[in-house]
Amino acid sequence: MKLFIDDANIEAIKELNEYYPIDGVTTNPSILAKAKRDPRETLKEIRDVIGEDKIIFAQAVDLSYEGMIRDAHMIMDLLGKNTVVKLPSTPTGFKAMAALKKDGILTCGTVVYTPMQAYLAAKAGASYVAPYVNRIDNMGYDGVGVVKKIQNILENNGMDCEVLAASFKNSMQVLELAEYGVGNATCAADVIKGFVKNAAIDGAIQDFVNDFEALTGKTSMSELD
Ligand code: G3P
Repeated sequence: MKLFIDDANIEAIKELNEYYPIDGVTTNPSILAKAKRDPRETLKEIRDVIGEDKIIFAQAVDLSYEGMIRDAHMIMDLLGKNTVVKLPSTPTGFKAMAALKKDGILTCGTVVYTPMQAYLAAKAGASYVAPYVNRIDNMGYDGVGVVKKIQNILENNGMDCEVLAASFKNSMQVLELAEYGVGNATCAADVIKGFVKNAAIDGAIQDFVNDFEALTGKTSMSELD
């Protein structure tokens, strides 16, 4: 499963990109709004931080068909290769996905709350579909279960489209989908940082250093005479 950062905080992206096996960054207009500056600057800076080989997802904002096409081309001009344009999984979005596929622009059907939205986005030509796990949970449904159903629909119909599961609040939701073979997950920076935040792990690592120091008086192999 590929892992993306669902965030536009540049410092957090720098840190996670340096220390974690990250495949790229996903954004949406609300995430960009949190950065409180020109969204084009934020997106360009994200591209500079992660380099041209990792993927950035950026969302078209305009809700008209013509506007989605314009936004998509503007996003591609801004961010270059390895960019995916997110479009809402609505009838207008489906039309734009089909048109952009003909132009060679990769799209992601986003705002997916139901398997039917995902099926139609995939059929329209989206390369990814983004179901919102935690938001579905909050509606009283089973977010992880909906993602599994979407994965089955894509696989069993041989559709050329991957799941990009989004809206996570904890590592168990992510791991369950990794175990199921879902292709991509995107999580906010604080959720990723929580993946290995565990007192038992920290304690065990410190014990190794303490034991070595008690034996040698040193805290690293390279310090030994
Ligand atoms: O892009 C979709 C995703 O960011 C939604 O996440 O945490 O706002 O539910 P959240």
